[in-house]
Amino acid sequence: MRFTTRREFLRASTAAALSAAVPVDLFAQAAAAVPSASSSAWDSGSVSHLLPTVSDTRMLIKASFNAPLEGTPRLRVDDHTVQGRMADTRGEHWHFYATQLLPGRRYPLSLISSTGRSLCQPWELATFPSPDEHPQKLRVLFYTCAGGHALMTDFLPPAVRNRLLRRGLAFQPDAVVANGDHVYWDLLSPRTSRISGASPRGEKIAGKFDRAGVVLGGNNEAVLKRAAGPQIVPVYGTDFRSTPVFFLQDDHDYFDNDAATDEIITFPPSYFMLQLARATQNMYYPEFLPDVARPLGLPWSSAADRASGVSECFGTIRYGRLAEILLYDIRRTQTLAGPSAVFVDPEAEKWLMARTSATDVTHVVHAPSNPPGWSAGKWGEWYPDVTGSNRTLTTARPKAYWQSGWLKQHDRLMQAISAMRGRVPLVISGDMHAIAMGRMMRSGALDLTANPVNVVLSGPVGTGASGWPSTGLRGTPAQPPTHLDLDEQVKPIEQHGFTLADFTPDKIVLQFVKWDVKTQSVKDIDALQPFHTAELHRPT
Ligand SMILES: [Fe+2]
Repeated sequence: MRFTTRREFLRASTAAALSAAVPVDLFAQAAAAVPSASSSAWDSGSVSHLLPTVSDTRMLIKASFNAPLEGTPRLRVDDHTVQGRMADTRGEHWHFYATQLLPGRRYPLSLISSTGRSLCQPWELATFPSPDEHPQKLRVLFYTCAGGHALMTDFLPPAVRNRLLRRGLAFQPDAVVANGDHVYWDLLSPRTSRISGASPRGEKIAGKFDRAGVVLGGNNEAVLKRAAGPQIVPVYGTDFRSTPVFFLQDDHDYFDNDAATDEIITFPPSYFMLQLARATQNMYYPEFLPDVARPLGLPWSSAADRASGVSECFGTIRYGRLAEILLYDIRRTQTLAGPSAVFVDPEAEKWLMARTSATDVTHVVHAPSNPPGWSAGKWGEWYPDVTGSNRTLTTARPKAYWQSGWLKQHDRLMQAISAMRGRVPLVISGDMHAIAMGRMMRSGALDLTANPVNVVLSGPVGTGASGWPSTGLRGTPAQPPTHLDLDEQVKPIEQHGFTLADFTPDKIVLQFVKWDVKTQSVKDIDALQPFHTAELHRPT
């Protein structure tokens, strides 16, 4: 089935999803959702979705089109012309990589077909300030877990997710961090695959992957698009065309839940999982652009089949000398080596340590793809806690296949973050379906009270009724693990939402926004305001 416009797609997916176990009135409200003024005023033409990222001198734009393009499309960036590069084998997905741009400059962009036809209305996108400049403010929007297929049970409808994200965009962030789990289509995890990609319903919707087959160029490519496309295209559309995005991958982006049993351990990802994750990223959302302070040879960086010098799992938001946000996917390089095991590759850890101790940027923030601060008893967490009795966590029982080296790496990172002088220690993470904020006072034997590490759960966007920690498979709300003393200023709230971080030279201000699907209407999303604000001043 092919949809000629994004609105047709939304209407069809919304109608079909009525059969899924999501409140009917929610879908009715979603179907009635009115596009924002900017969406309706801007003509997306034949573009189905478009997601850009920028650095000080580069732009990388991923786009899909509502029909395969016959010839190579071009991106015009002011008076530069960039040839598109195909990301699939049918010509539906393209990316555009502009380099040698000027820092801190707003550029007019246009997408043009091989025959010279406009593929959408022109728009604008700005580069970041150069690493040596001193901008006075930066606003970043953070959220996690925006995935979920409309035809599968138990995810927030894509139109509602889009509305939440458009509310986030209304606060006019300079950058957006989408921290992991953009796609839920688990294939092997013993418990979740049966209600996800490996279920009869999942296979009816998308087809069945051949795990020994190539991902691009055969039937697997069509299966991948049917599984992943409806989780991303209607959620973003072209709404982010002028806002640079930074998409980290987490467990589900490798098409599985992090899980370990005697039968299977899903991470580190198998070859096939890697190909699915890489192909999804290549087609739908941008990799991380090179950064002056991030080595080009970190794992999964500078691959020959990608835009020159980009990294697939280690990223940087570098905004002059005001702020640097270190983004790291902890799944792809995790090892199972007991006390010497890591989540983050040792060379990437060296990069994190070097940037954390360097003094050339005012604010340095860590954004790992899974959460320091809280646990819900899941295998692939930093902490050894498992679900105990009465919805509590315990370390009295060992967590099978959990690696003590992961926690050692956690402590090395937290120690380095706390040791920053003259800075706000701050970690804003993904993966956990909750909104929370706390101060880490102790981590194991480390006394952090001299400069506690502020930890934040940024807020989920796509979670369904049974996807919350306390309603999920383990039935345990997110709680501080035994390893930590955590001063919880906002205890984990199981609602949808996002976090805004405002950076100025003397402080970071965090604003938390939440929306309660049980008590609030979809229309209420358009007027959401922060329910909690935290001012984190630099120590003097
Ligand atoms: Fe995750």
